[in-house]
Parts: sequence; C-alpha cells; structure tokens
Amino acid sequence: MWLFWLLYGLLWSPVLGWCLWVTFLSWSKVDSDSWSIEPLQWTWDDGAPEAADRSKINTEELYFPPGFLWGVATAAHQIEGNCNNSNWSEWEKKTRLWRGKSIPCIRDGQKVGTHVDHLNRVEEDIGLMTELGLNSYRFSIDWAKLEPSPGHFDKDFIEHYHREIALLKKAGIEPMITLHHFSHPIWFEEMGGFERADNLTYFENFCVRMFAEYSPQVKFFCTINEPSVYIQGSYVTGIFPPGKMDLNLAGEVMRNMMIGHVRVYYRLKQMENGSTAQIGIVHDTFQMHPWNKWNPLDVLGSKVLDFAFNKLLFNFFETGIFDYRLLGAKRIVFSEPKAKFSNDFIGLNYYSHYHVQFWPTEEAPLTLRHPSSSLMTDMPHPLYPEGLYCAIKQAARLGRPIYITENGIADGDDSRRHLYLKRYLYALSKAIKDGFDVRGYYYWTLYDNFEWAEGYNMRFGLYHVDFETQKRTLRDGSKYFQKVVQKFRVKELPDAKEKKDSQ
Ligand code: FCB
Repeated sequence: MWLFWLLYGLLWSPVLGWCLWVTFLSWSKVDSDSWSIEPLQWTWDDGAPEAADRSKINTEELYFPPGFLWGVATAAHQIEGNCNNSNWSEWEKKTRLWRGKSIPCIRDGQKVGTHVDHLNRVEEDIGLMTELGLNSYRFSIDWAKLEPSPGHFDKDFIEHYHREIALLKKAGIEPMITLHHFSHPIWFEEMGGFERADNLTYFENFCVRMFAEYSPQVKFFCTINEPSVYIQGSYVTGIFPPGKMDLNLAGEVMRNMMIGHVRVYYRLKQMENGSTAQIGIVHDTFQMHPWNKWNPLDVLGSKVLDFAFNKLLFNFFETGIFDYRLLGAKRIVFSEPKAKFSNDFIGLNYYSHYHVQFWPTEEAPLTLRHPSSSLMTDMPHPLYPEGLYCAIKQAARLGRPIYITENGIADGDDSRRHLYLKRYLYALSKAIKDGFDVRGYYYWTLYDNFEWAEGYNMRFGLYHVDFETQKRTLRDGSKYFQKVVQKFRVKELPDAKEKKDSQ
C-alpha cells in the first residue's frame, strides 16, 4: 500500500507544485512596488517619438508644484579635471582580469584628464544652468582635493567651492552638496576605505569640516551617493576600485556605509545650521523582474537581486534593522533604531530596470537581460519610465520627502533623449499628482562627462561636449527639458523671496 501512495505522490507532486506556483503568480501579478513578476506597463506609443497612438497617455499633461527644484546633477571626479590623488585616479592606471585576460580598468585605457575642465569653467557652466532655467544644482565636493592628507585641508580648494556656491546663489540656483560620490582620497583607500569600521571617523571628520564651511550658504546635503552601486561595482563585479569580488566584504562595506551615514547625519544635525539643513542619503533602484516568470529559478534570482540592490537599504531605514543575508555570504545583522530618523529627505536615483535569468556564466550565476522589444539607451538600460513611478512609490514608504537626485539617458546620437524626457517627466508628474511628496528633479547630467568604468564613451549630457576643445553645445533632445523647466520653475529661491519681502 505504501508503495502505491509513494508512486501516487511522486506522480502528482509536480502537478500540485505547479498549481501552487500558478496561484502564487496570479496573486502577485503586477505590483507597482520594486519587485513584481511582470513590469508595470502603461500604454504609450510604439516607441517612435512621433507615433500618434497616445490614446491612454498624454505626456503634455504635466503638473509640478510651485517651489519644485529643477536641477542637474554632477560629481567632482566626473567633471572637474585635476583629479590625481583619489581611488579613481589610481584605478585608471591599472588593469584587471576579465575572463582570464588582463584589461584596462577604464574602457580602452582612458584617463579622466581634463576633458571637461569644470574646475576652470565654473562661471561658464553656471551660465549653462541659467540658460536651461534651473533653480538648483547637485554636485559633489572632491574629498581627495579638499583633504589631501588626513586632517590637512587645502585652503584653496575650500575657497574654490565657496566661490562656486556664491556664484550659484547669485544666479538663483540652490546648491545641493554630495559629500561622497564614489571617489575619495587615495590615503583613505589605502587604509581600507569603508572596509574598516574604524575608518568611519575620517569620513565623519571630513563631513563635519565641510558642513561647518558650507552650511551657512547651503541647505541640502547628500551624505553618500548610491551605496548599493558603489558596493556592487567595488566589491561584487570588481569594475570599480578597489576591484574586489567578495560577497562577505560587500556586506561589511554596506554595513559600514549605513553606520557612517547615520553617524554623519546626527553629528551634522547637532552643529550650527543643523536644524535647518536638509540631510539625506541617495539610493539608486533598478526593478528586477524574472526573465521567465514560469521559471522559479528566475523568480528566485530576481528576488535575491532586488533584496541586495534595492531593499537592503530601504529596509534599514524603514525598520532600523540591517539584515544582510545572501546565499554564499556571511549573514550580518544589527539594529540601529536611530536609522529610522536619519534622513530629512530621500535622494532617489532612477534609470531603468532589469530582467533576471538564472543562467550561470563565468562571471555570475545570474544574467541580466532585456526583451528584444525594449527601446535601449547606450547603457544596458532600456527606457522604462513606469519604473520611475514604481521607485517613487517604494521610496515613499520611508515617509520622507523625495528628490529625484539623478535620472538621465546615455544617448550619443541624441535620438532618444527627447522621448526619454517626455516619458520620465510624465511619470514623475503622475507620481506627484497621485500624492507622492516629490520636491525636485535633477537630470543626470549637465554635459557629457567621465562615466566611471565606461570612460568618456557614454554621453548623458544635456550639453554635448567636444572633449578636444571643451566646447559645450545644447542638444536638440534636451530642449524639451528646458521647455518644461521654464514653464514650471518658480524664478526666485524661497530664501531670496523671504529676504526681499521683509525689506
Ligand atoms: C549613477 C552615478 C552617476 C552616473 C550615473 C550615470 O549611478 O551616481 O555618477 O555615473 O550613474
């Protein structure tokens, strides 16, 4: 008899499993949160900019509240030039192993050089922002230049940023400073960077010093740009310095960055101007969908990546509990209740989404793919404006105002930028209309610049840059952004208006 039941069970269990699986799929169909079986899809046109079928969506119907911040975002290492004592300036001299071959760390062995030369063109570049009609600018200050050796600050560079901030304010542009955007001094890297919890004191001291300098003029501070991207590049795929591939270390660095953010937040809040400053972290999210929703391994893979890339950070700030658990890595758990209150705003960077396939290669057990119907940018990112809406919805769970601190397209021939902007700005406006508290949008980026491991090949700029002459030219595809900004922007900064009114 038992043999009968065993055979009966063996025969029916896959069928039963399949039925349960299908039931699960139908429950969790499309959810506009970060993880969903199927991507949220709106009815757009067929992808061609001039196609007529906009029956469901009218991208002209936009709403942005008064006081909304319109900006562009940049990072010091990517635009300034004269970068020669940081983790990235060392990295560009090196090679790394890829599929058994030694290749330059930056594509084709490119060097950051002075191809954009922002350091010497601050006025000109602020002029470009004015031409666009912007009222805000997010940029990072270069720790490597400002603190060339531990505890020694360079007066000239401190002064340089004072001058830049004063020029921005004069032009009616609200500065937003990022304290760490992927690059840091080589001495910090050599000490182990964020791998060692002891080193957090150096980061904290730098932030305190900079806040003392700039907070009388600057209201917005981002502590760390995209910890998940930094960790993925530096400790998982190894394409960013220090080029390690170690999931245990990745978890430790993430833990230290989270602790570092919380410590910096509370230190700065206690300082003069702390109570009025707006301080937040910047997180990048990419939705991870299964390549084949009927394949449980693809589904599992997409959930794992969604956890590691998106949710780990959000969970920490939502619950105060950091719980890094990944197959094949040491679990790291700790609780920091203060984390829940350690952001005045959330900086949200959003570009696109991925489909995850359980397809082991030499590099990884999972492969990131896109359906052939996707409209691709020059990066492996398809256009996916619906995802911006979903990302906002997910970030809103933290109950803080949101600033879209980066969003943009690499589009060397400028054939998709116009469409990209139309659709992403529509998605943003829809989120605002639906009640999400989004207070600003920063396009990545003002002009073509150094795109990390990709060198100068990826052209995200609203302005084209001729890297020989440094000449900046507004792209046609960017004019839509200029038009929207000029339509919705409030001309004066709230501060300036208050001052004028009280005179
Ligand atoms: C983000 C980075 C930014 C830029 C864009 C394209 O992940 O924060 O510096 O490289 O991607």
